[in-house]
Amino acid sequence: MGRAAGLAAKLEPDFIDLNFGCPVPKVVRKNGGVALMREPRLIGKIAAEAVRQAAGVPVTAKIRSGWDSSSINFLEVAGILIDSGVAALTLHPRTRVQGFSGRSDWSRIAELVKFSPVPVIGSGDIFAPQDALAMFSQTGCRAVMIGRGALGNPWIFGRARRLLENLSDPGEPQPGERFAQALEQAEMMAGEMGELATIIQMRKHFSYYTRGLAGGAALRRELFACIGLEQARLIFEHYPESMQCTPI
Ligand SMILES: Cc1cc2nc3c(=O)[nH]c(=O)nc-3n(C[C@H](O)[C@H](O)[C@H](O)COP(=O)(O)O)c2cc1C
Repeated sequence: MGRAAGLAAKLEPDFIDLNFGCPVPKVVRKNGGVALMREPRLIGKIAAEAVRQAAGVPVTAKIRSGWDSSSINFLEVAGILIDSGVAALTLHPRTRVQGFSGRSDWSRIAELVKFSPVPVIGSGDIFAPQDALAMFSQTGCRAVMIGRGALGNPWIFGRARRLLENLSDPGEPQPGERFAQALEQAEMMAGEMGELATIIQMRKHFSYYTRGLAGGAALRRELFACIGLEQARLIFEHYPESMQCTPI
């Protein structure tokens, strides 16, 4: 991890984030991600070495509440990470065993804010711009991280920012705007991985972008069967403009 941080630092990123919250089975099986929360001292060694080799590029870290409900140790791990020199901490207050079930317990983010001398970023269950505001006010966190709420919905960031700045909310994007964004994402992916792999990967994203649209199920059936981006574009073009969209 230290060597990786050193290599990444050469690319001059704004910061390097160490993810000790990842619950994905293939990562956890190899004792990576959130599995390391069962070994706080090892987390400390990893973080300290990453900070050292990052040579001045800020290193931040992401954690969960703990491994399971009987081993809630985010404050202990946070303390070790702070001593190791991390510049900020993100907490997704669920355990590994919870996965994405139950609710993100924001009171733990507030606890960490009180405990931590470095900025705390809150994570979990921000699905609407208003949720971001609620997390700031309920926890005192310095920033929020948005995961699932941004899938097929990149507008959530700009809308949350506008609310924070006391500006009006433009509301949900219209179907045409959603389709254009979905196609732009697909084109960017095609540039990286080719059209066929993109169309397969984009199936789930098309379904996020069309969530809540009138006639969405029929639209998704067509999109799932399509085999090229031009075909996807035509399917979107034929979506009746008159159909109303409902909140994402
Ligand atoms: C598709 C997806 C990819 C994610 N990738 C990362 C990642 O690379 N690094 C990270 O720290 N968290 C990652 N997360 C976790 C989120 O940052 C977040 O902590 C978690 O999803 C809970 O927040 P949410 O309720 O806003 O989804 C990912 C989540 C999702 C849904």
